[in-house]
Amino acid sequence: MRKLVIAIDGFSSSGKSTMARALAKEIGYIYVDSGAMYRAVTLYALRNGMVMPDGSLDTQALVAALPNVNVSFAPAGADGVQHTLLNGEDVEKEIREMRVSEMVSPVAVIPEVRHRLVALQQEFGREKGIVMDGRDIGTTVFPRAEMKVFVNASAEERARRRFKELQDKGVKADYDEVYANICERDHIDSTRKESPLRKAEDAVELDNDNMTPAEQMKWLHDLYIKIASAE
Ligand code: DC
Repeated sequence: MRKLVIAIDGFSSSGKSTMARALAKEIGYIYVDSGAMYRAVTLYALRNGMVMPDGSLDTQALVAALPNVNVSFAPAGADGVQHTLLNGEDVEKEIREMRVSEMVSPVAVIPEVRHRLVALQQEFGREKGIVMDGRDIGTTVFPRAEMKVFVNASAEERARRRFKELQDKGVKADYDEVYANICERDHIDSTRKESPLRKAEDAVELDNDNMTPAEQMKWLHDLYIKIASAE
C-alpha cells in the first residue's frame, strides 16, 4: 500500500472531522484538525486583549505577535483525542468554547495567520501518512494530495446535527440560531479572499445528507483502499 496524504474539506458541521479522525485511527495515520489551529490563534488573541469590547479585532497587534504563537499537538491520550497545544499549554477544551467560535472566522481571514498555519500544516505532512481536515487542505495546503474528499450536506441537515449535538451535551440552543450561525459561517468561509472554501477540481464529493455514519465510513475506507493500492 502506498502512503498517502489525505485531504478532507467541507462546510462546518458536515461531519468531516469525525470521519477524518476515525479513518486515521483505522489506517494508523496521523490526524490533524486544521480548524483547531485557527481556534488556538483565536484564543491567543482573546487572552492577550486583541479583541475589543465591541468584538472587533486588533489585526495589527495579532500579526505582530504571530512569531510568539506556537501551535502544536500532543498525541492522543486515554480519551483517544489529540490535544491542541498553544505555546505548550493544552487548550483543547477552551478552543471549543463559544467565544472562540464567534471570533475564529475573522482571525482565519488574516493572510499572515493563514500563511503561518499553512506552512506548519505542510510541515506535518512532509512524511505523508496523514489525514488533515479543514477548508483549504485539498486546494492550498496539499494541492498534490493523493486522496481528496469534499464533504457536503444541506445547511438544514447540518444545523439539525449541530442542534442535536448541543442538546445531547445539555447546552441550551435554539434551532433557528444554530441554522443562522451555520449559514453565516458558510458565507464567510466561502467568500473570503484568501483560500476560500471550495472543492478542489480533483476532489471526490461526498454528499452525506442521507447517509448513516457507518455508511460514510465504509465509503471513505473503500476510497482509501482503492487509491492506496493503485500503482
Ligand atoms: O473546523 P472548525 O469549525 O473547527 O474551524 C474553525 C474555523 O477555522 C472555521 O470557521 C474556518 C476556519 N478554518 C479555515 O479557515 N481553514 C481551515 N483549513 C480550517 C478551518
